[in-house]
Formats: sequence, C-alpha cells, structure tokens
Amino acid sequence: MSDKMKIMLVFGTRPEAIKMAPLLHKLREYPEIFDVKCCVTAQHRQMLDNVLETFSITPDYDLDIMKAGQDLTDITSNVLTALRDLFKTERPDFILVHGDTSTTMAASMASFYAGIKIGHVEAGLRTHNLYAPFPEEFNRKMAGMVANLHFAPTQKSAQNLINEGVDSQKIFITGNSVIDALYFMTDKLDNDADFTVKIDHEINSQLGFDWQASQYILMTGHRRENFGVNFINICRAIKHLSVKYPSTQFIYPVHLNPNVIKPVNDILADCPNVHLIKPLNYEPFVRLLSKSHIILTDSGGIQEEAPSLGKPVLVMRDVTERPEAVDAGTVKLVGADYENIIRHVSMLLDDNAYYQSMSGAHNPYGDGTTAEQIVKILENHKAD
Ligand code: UD1
Ligand code: UDP
Repeated sequence: MSDKMKIMLVFGTRPEAIKMAPLLHKLREYPEIFDVKCCVTAQHRQMLDNVLETFSITPDYDLDIMKAGQDLTDITSNVLTALRDLFKTERPDFILVHGDTSTTMAASMASFYAGIKIGHVEAGLRTHNLYAPFPEEFNRKMAGMVANLHFAPTQKSAQNLINEGVDSQKIFITGNSVIDALYFMTDKLDNDADFTVKIDHEINSQLGFDWQASQYILMTGHRRENFGVNFINICRAIKHLSVKYPSTQFIYPVHLNPNVIKPVNDILADCPNVHLIKPLNYEPFVRLLSKSHIILTDSGGIQEEAPSLGKPVLVMRDVTERPEAVDAGTVKLVGADYENIIRHVSMLLDDNAYYQSMSGAHNPYGDGTTAEQIVKILENHKAD
C-alpha cells in the first residue's frame, strides 16, 4: 500500500480554476509525497475549459454537470450525486475545495458524507450578510463548517473563522493563490515578447479599436443578487457615461450567464464606445487589466488582482468580503446604484488627485507563494 498522501482537488468554475491551478501544479512537484488527482465538476463548461487550457490542466475526472440556465438545486444535486458515485471507487485522504461556489459547498458536503477530510482554500471570507453575495456567503460558511483545514488569505479572514469558533490550530494564513496565478501571467507578459505579441493579436481580434492607444475602462458583472433591476441600473449608468465621455472606451467581456447577456445586449449593444465581447481567456484579461485606466466590477477575484496592479476598482456591490483592498484605498463600493456609479466614474475621470489617491499598488493578498505554503502545511498533516 502506498504511503503517499492522496489528494483530490475539486473545482468547477472559472475563478476556482484560476486559483487552484497554482496549487495543483505545486502539489505535482512532489510526486514522492502526494498522489494528486484533479476532478472538475464543470459547473462552468467553456469558461472552465479556457482556464484548463491556459494552465495546461487535464482533469482526471470531469463530472460535466453544466446545463444552460441551471439553478442552484441543479448544481448542488448533480455535484452531490456524481461525487457520491466517484467516492465509491476513489478514496482520497483529503479533498481540496476553493472559495464559495455551489461546487465548493456541494463537494464539501459530499466529502463530509463520505468521511473524507476537507481542506478549504480561500477560507473565512465573510460579509456577515447571508444574502450578499447570494448564495456565496452561505456556500463558504457551509464549507467552513465541515473543513478540517482552513487556508485563510488574510488575518481578517482567519479572525472571522476564530469568531465562529473554529479551532485556531486548523487555520493557516497563506495569502490568496490568485496572486500566484496573477504573477505567473504578468511575469510571462513582461518577459516573453513573443507571447505578448500573440496575446495582443488575440485582443485585437476581439476589439475594433486601438486599445493600446486609448483610455479604457474594463468592466465585468455577474452576481446573482444583481440580476434584474440592478443589472438594468448598471447598464443604464454605463450608457450614460459612454455618452458623457465619448473618447473613453468601455471594454466589457460579458459573462455567459443568460441573465447577464440579455440586459447587457438590450441596453448597451448600440453604444459606439462600449465594446461587448465574449469572456476573455486569462492571458488577454490580465493584459487588459494591467493596461486599463479604471475597473468596474462585481467580481470577487478582480478585487484581489487589481490592487496588486495599482488599478482603481469601483465595486458594484453594497458589501464586500474583501475589506483589505477597501482599507488600502484601491477599492470603493459603489453599489448597483445608477447615480453613484456615474458620480464615481466621473470623479476618477475628471479629478486627477482623486484618481491618484486610488491607484497606488497594494498587496493585501500575499506575495505569490500561497500554493507553496499550502503544500507545506498539507505535508505536515500527512499523519492526521
Ligand atoms: C458561478 C458561481 C459564482 C462565481 C461565478 C464565477 C454559484 C452559485 N455561482 O456563478 O459564485 O462567482 O460562477 O463566474 O456557484 N454559462 C455558460 N458557459 C460557461 C459558464 C456559464 O454557458 O462556461 C452559463 C450557463 O447558462 C449557466 C449559467 O451561465 O447555466 C450560470 O452559471 P452558474 O455557474 O450557475 O452561475 P454563475 O453566475 O456563473
Ligand atoms: N477573468 C477572465 N476573463 C474574463 C473576466 C475575468 O479570465 O473575461 C478572470 C479574472 O481575472 C479573475 C476571475 O476571472 O481571476 C474572476 O472570475 P469571476 O469574476 O467570474 O468570478 P468571481 O471572482 O466573482 O467569483
């Protein structure tokens, strides 16, 4: 019998894949210690596959659950059933899950039922409001409830777990592996000219203007609690801004969720300086992030990446589980509020002092060594 530690990473969406890729690769550097398997639920299909290709990941198991227009019950029940069946033949010592998606929650539950230990990466983020973001606050609390090891990105996220009664011996502050992924990509873009030319061609083929010579705002949006009237407000604010600032370009890679695509197309398709494009692969997205003037988003991961790049971020949410970048001054919460979005974008475009106050580079989420730290901690728990 092998005395290697059997580890299975389980993830399903674009952001989980980006943040788990560095950990998967780092674990595989130690084949004498770890027997590593990668299981994707494919809660996302195309957006996941793009990341798998970027980071050269071939999953050992693909549960292939995505359905167009899936609801939360579809995701949860399909992940639970598929993992129950997989765990009948594959018995890892530990599964590793990431963050707060329904894949994370259901995979944690399936492992708990099967008596398999759980390591939760990006643990302890909280808004303390169960409905914002929905259902992510619930998902991460559920994962935290059954996890055996909690890899918290910051002191604040570790403290949230301690406040909930989690044994402090099981909590490790490791930074966030999104910074590992970001540095991997920015290093490549900075040091490999042929690679950058290729990525720039990829961007050019999607955008019909000279983005390198233009001032542009990069935006994304997909939160479930923003569906409906909030998304309409966001799009109307962008439309207003695009008329007010005709020489500023707005680049918007639109999430594939039909609840997002419809209002975005209905309201913004005819604006000449708003460029609605398909979700970008991680390489061109990081390239565009690093050259953007302002970022407008409701994303979690982008709130972590942008401070490292020194970019002002306006977050179209009322609360955030990532207060570190707000404290550092690079992130501001503007809600999904028509007037507020217009006011803050206008201030950033018109008032240079205000812009400068939000654009210093900060690194609250680590130094790019998160994967390495987690691997060491896992090795120390081999005998558990
Ligand atoms: C999910 C996560 C959210 C995370 C986000 C990252 C849950 C409940 N939500 O939200 O926490 O922040 O991913 O992007 O876990 N679709 C495609 N192709 C894709 C991906 C999505 O067509 O590659 C469409 C499908 O119609 C799918 C829909 O988008 O049914 C919604 O996908 P889903 O994963 O349920 O929700 P997200 O909004 O992506
Ligand atoms: N991202 C990407 N292409 C895009 C938009 C975002 O690669 O077109 C990356 C982004 O850099 C970040 C992650 O996807 O690392 C964020 O994913 P998303 O906003 O979908 O999810 P969240 O972080 O809100 O859970």
